[in-house]
Amino acid sequence: MTPLAERYREWLPLEAGARVVSLGEGSTPLVRAESLSDELGLDLWLKLESANPTGSFKDRGMTVAVSCALARGARSVICASTGNTAASAAAYAARAGLTAAILLPRGAVALGKLAQARATGARLLEVRGSFDQALRAAAALAESHAAYALVNSINPDRIEGQKTAAFELVEELGRAPDVVALPYGGGGNTRAYARGFAEWGAGLPRLVAGAATRRADTFASAIRIVEPVHAAEAEAAVRESHGAVVPLADEEIEAAWRLLSEREGVFCEPASAAGLAALRKAGATGTAIVVVTGHGLKDAAAVERAAGPVAEVDPDPDALAKSLG
Ligand code: F0G
Repeated sequence: MTPLAERYREWLPLEAGARVVSLGEGSTPLVRAESLSDELGLDLWLKLESANPTGSFKDRGMTVAVSCALARGARSVICASTGNTAASAAAYAARAGLTAAILLPRGAVALGKLAQARATGARLLEVRGSFDQALRAAAALAESHAAYALVNSINPDRIEGQKTAAFELVEELGRAPDVVALPYGGGGNTRAYARGFAEWGAGLPRLVAGAATRRADTFASAIRIVEPVHAAEAEAAVRESHGAVVPLADEEIEAAWRLLSEREGVFCEPASAAGLAALRKAGATGTAIVVVTGHGLKDAAAVERAAGPVAEVDPDPDALAKSLG
């Protein structure tokens, strides 16, 4: 498969001849949500960014950010993360032969993501503080130590890579959709979609961004971000699109998360359902895209909390029939 950064090279900040560090990201499935389309009276499609190599949309930005860091002579990448950026940075750094330093808010990262980052041999540090504090510390270290390249989304290369999701949507649908709904954590991805549609000249869909009301402690741990670094630009893009930032109670995110699994067979992590939750709350018409940002296996503990226990049974057909009732 042609790497994403090769396919869209002319749109990206990669220098000629620079090595592209790729794991086969992008070209993610666009799947029609038949059941939810009927229920919501929409033509609803799911963009499965969870199908990226490390299981989240972060890989689109990371291929570009790590390729650029390598070209500029960095020896190490650094990020703060609620988990997905960590998993992605660790994987792309390993691929590039760079070391990765990863700052995690203590006790707040889903196990699957932690395992992904640890498996690469990345240097992981749990910071006594929030994601926002860890991000400030990572940025300050990168500022003062030239060997470290910051690969959080305040690095513009990340947003550049992530905008390619909008390109794929227009290519696949033959036009821009009417609505794009997605989670709003730091706001980088909201900016990236807005930029992608603008650069492609496709017209800006209504952007519907779902934000947890309980930013500090939402069960959707990926978006446990109190101070969105891209707030000004992301919210300006939402306004320009005649869209909305939709505040969501955890119950609303959880309900949408269950719907995706139970009605569409799409198992995502809780934060990834914030787009659908926002769409259900805000309402919409026409062709709508829900961006499913991260895979469900990253946060298996969320299922433990939400689903019933698994019953035990003897390996006997009568016992099975009785249990299945
Ligand atoms: N969905 C998932 C699965 C995420 O991991 C994130 C952010 C978002 C949505 C929000 O995207 O910040 O661009 O608005 N995760 C970051 C991380 C913070 O460290 O992995 P945003």
